[in-house]
Amino acid sequence: VTQYLAEWRPYPFRLLETRLDVTLSPRATTVRSALRFEPLQAGADLVLDGEGLATQSLAIDGRRLDLAAPAGGPLVIAAAELPHGPFTFEAEVTIDPEANTALEGLYLSNGMFCTQCEAQGFRHITWYPDRPDVMAPFTVRLNSDLPVLLSNGNPVASGPGWAEWHDPWPKPAYLFALVAGDLVAVPGKFTTASGRPVALNVWVRPGDQDRAGFAMEALIASMRWDEQVYGREYDLDVFNIVAVDDFNMGAMENKGLNIFNSRLVLASPETATDTDYERIEAVIAHEYFHNWTGNRITCRDWFQLCLKEGLTVFRDQQFTSDMRSAAVKRIEDVKTLRARQFREDQGPLAHPPRPDHYQEINNFYTATVYEKGAEVIGMLKRLVGDEGYRKALDLYFERHDGQACTIEDWLRVFEDATGRDLAQFARWYTDAGTPQLTMTEHWRPDAAGGGSLTLGFTQATAPTPGQPNKAPRVIPIAVGLIGPNGDEVMPTRILEMTEAAQSWTFDSLGARPVVSALRGFSAPVTLQRQMDGPTRAFLLAHDTDPFARWEAGRGLALEALIGMAAGAAPDPGFVAAMGAVIADNTLDPAFRALVLRLPGEDEIAAETASRGNVPDPDAIHAAREGLARALAEAHQTPLGALYDAMAVPGEYRPDAADAGKRDLRLAILALLTRIDGGARAQALWDSAGNMTERLGALASLVAAGRAEAALRQFEAQGRGNRLVMDKWFGVQVSAAPPKDALATAESLSQRPDFDWKNPNRYRALIGGFAANHAAFHAADGGGYRFAAGWISRMDELNPQIAARQCSVFETWARYDASRRAHAQAAMQAIAARPGLSRNTKEMISRLLGAG
Ligand code: ARG
Ligand code: ZN
Repeated sequence: VTQYLAEWRPYPFRLLETRLDVTLSPRATTVRSALRFEPLQAGADLVLDGEGLATQSLAIDGRRLDLAAPAGGPLVIAAAELPHGPFTFEAEVTIDPEANTALEGLYLSNGMFCTQCEAQGFRHITWYPDRPDVMAPFTVRLNSDLPVLLSNGNPVASGPGWAEWHDPWPKPAYLFALVAGDLVAVPGKFTTASGRPVALNVWVRPGDQDRAGFAMEALIASMRWDEQVYGREYDLDVFNIVAVDDFNMGAMENKGLNIFNSRLVLASPETATDTDYERIEAVIAHEYFHNWTGNRITCRDWFQLCLKEGLTVFRDQQFTSDMRSAAVKRIEDVKTLRARQFREDQGPLAHPPRPDHYQEINNFYTATVYEKGAEVIGMLKRLVGDEGYRKALDLYFERHDGQACTIEDWLRVFEDATGRDLAQFARWYTDAGTPQLTMTEHWRPDAAGGGSLTLGFTQATAPTPGQPNKAPRVIPIAVGLIGPNGDEVMPTRILEMTEAAQSWTFDSLGARPVVSALRGFSAPVTLQRQMDGPTRAFLLAHDTDPFARWEAGRGLALEALIGMAAGAAPDPGFVAAMGAVIADNTLDPAFRALVLRLPGEDEIAAETASRGNVPDPDAIHAAREGLARALAEAHQTPLGALYDAMAVPGEYRPDAADAGKRDLRLAILALLTRIDGGARAQALWDSAGNMTERLGALASLVAAGRAEAALRQFEAQGRGNRLVMDKWFGVQVSAAPPKDALATAESLSQRPDFDWKNPNRYRALIGGFAANHAAFHAADGGGYRFAAGWISRMDELNPQIAARQCSVFETWARYDASRRAHAQAAMQAIAARPGLSRNTKEMISRLLGAG
């Protein structure tokens, strides 16, 4: 059944209070609930959600209801059975956490009870109005012999075998959580700006304490930052974070009790890479920031998901920019956006940041809702300015605290705070697809040797499923001008495009400048412009905007790669431009690493398709290898010297400066491995002092086909650490030469320690394989069949994970007829599984263009 935004109706009861009494037991947990309701509409039935509940009893105001509760689907208590005034609904149900392999609701992970209720997990725990606009204070009593019993809010009282928690802040059921297990805390303290002491804890399994310190530091930094930048303080006496090994997503912002995938909490130099550290810092911040943007102000319905997710991603991106390098962070974010969100927008799964219908909401926790949702807020901020943004946010918190809101509410605070009409801007939320911007230049010389420059822009957005026609959007285009000698002659200016075609003229220029357009990636669009190699190289050398500079290098690389895939030789202009970057020691190492890493194969394929051509995965792989080799050969000596210069001696620190040097070193290692047969990678492997270097060296050895010994050593040291072993599984397939990857993936999938029920392990191998572009898209369809087989297998156990994995097929229509036929057959095989989940069914039907 499809859910429609247009069909949303207010819940006809106010929920005044929720009381839960939970007696935990692996096979039969008893949940007793007491919900105090106040009718808001005369004659309304009480409709409650529930899935897989064994109902023992139901009562209204202590009077037992003689009603056979359905096993699944809504429980309807007729209005005639209900008192006219406030009443208490009580239920006792039994559930089976051990049988819960979907990891939705209450489940067990290594003997520990935990929950995941977003989006609709709470209905697997008890009968409830499981919708985000029904909010109530919760009182929860947990009964269990396990030593640590946690829930939302503040601890009230506890004794042997029980604990009681009270959360005074009204919240929807999706923010409920409980944890019970044998856990130890890494404690911390925080005092809010207004003086409230908060006890902080990161809860982990005994033995993992020495890997939780970084998460605690990140939490404290996040709490301070949200006070300083947004004026938001924490609002309870305790804040708990729990690391869980089996978790469908990254983490969850349950009020006062954030639950994390352990890979986003646990870190030590020996087990986590620099990327892991940065990710942990960002996700700890993200979940913490949800306390205001998500929890204090939540979503009216799930169509509004980007209200909390887009804003919270935007906030965590700002936080990382402040903690690390803003320039590098922006480039990284654009890379992710293009790799995931543009890819989504250009295929059969395209949807707007605020969809207006869905079958399974868990399929909409997407790059479009999250990352594009964040970009849309970045544009708003660019349009109204920093001050306008702050005023609007202050108004948002003041006006909507305690409410469940919509995108309309969000836009209204910007209109009211700044006086701007956002009617057209709202299309960014309702329309799918990436606008394509085309820029033309017209130079009119004047008598004095200078002239005026006219920039013409057109915008167009291709049709997406269900949206054939697209109206023009508001596009903030950040533009600057660079004079022929490399000096900036016009600093950044925002051109506000609102029509299908528009132009701007810049007069009284000295000489014809080079245009630096879409600075800072000021809007999530693709930009078409005629630009030759020398002009790109000029911008790479002289642009004052770091994003635009990096973008110029990427443009050069893509041109070279697409040319090579069609048979051309490596572009000497590109090779020379990279030589200048290698030689420029004034550049931040992290930035140089970003420039030196060639675009990925999937990105080259996307660019090929956007030019109307059919990508050939083997030719693309060969082109990328060839260009890397050409770079390495041309610059062997300076690359070798820079590699040596970037060694970071001394104690490992995960900060941006050291991480940037290590990253540049590994980018160079990847290039030089193409010509030294893996000699440097072996030397680094032998001397590596941390996981960043070990994994970097190992990836290069795998790519060079000489990783056997290193893989054995890595396994010997990593055995017993799940997160380290995930890396071991992943790197062997993602970094492998494409011709070997499928055989490796198949043999790894046979191993007893391929514990595929664990989402991290499954993603490491199956996702890692699919990330190997030429292997996944092998001409004989073997890659597609392998992935499809594992999707079917997972669907039986964990529909959310299976459905997410389906997105490996989202680009299938780009390729040649034979590959398309193989991909379709693989997807049809998934669709044919008896008992296919609603999650996967929706994904496959959209992928095949049928839904
Ligand atoms: N709200 C969480 C976050 O982004 C994501 C939880 C999504 N879980 C799910 N099963 N859909 O921080
Ligand atoms: Zn989130």
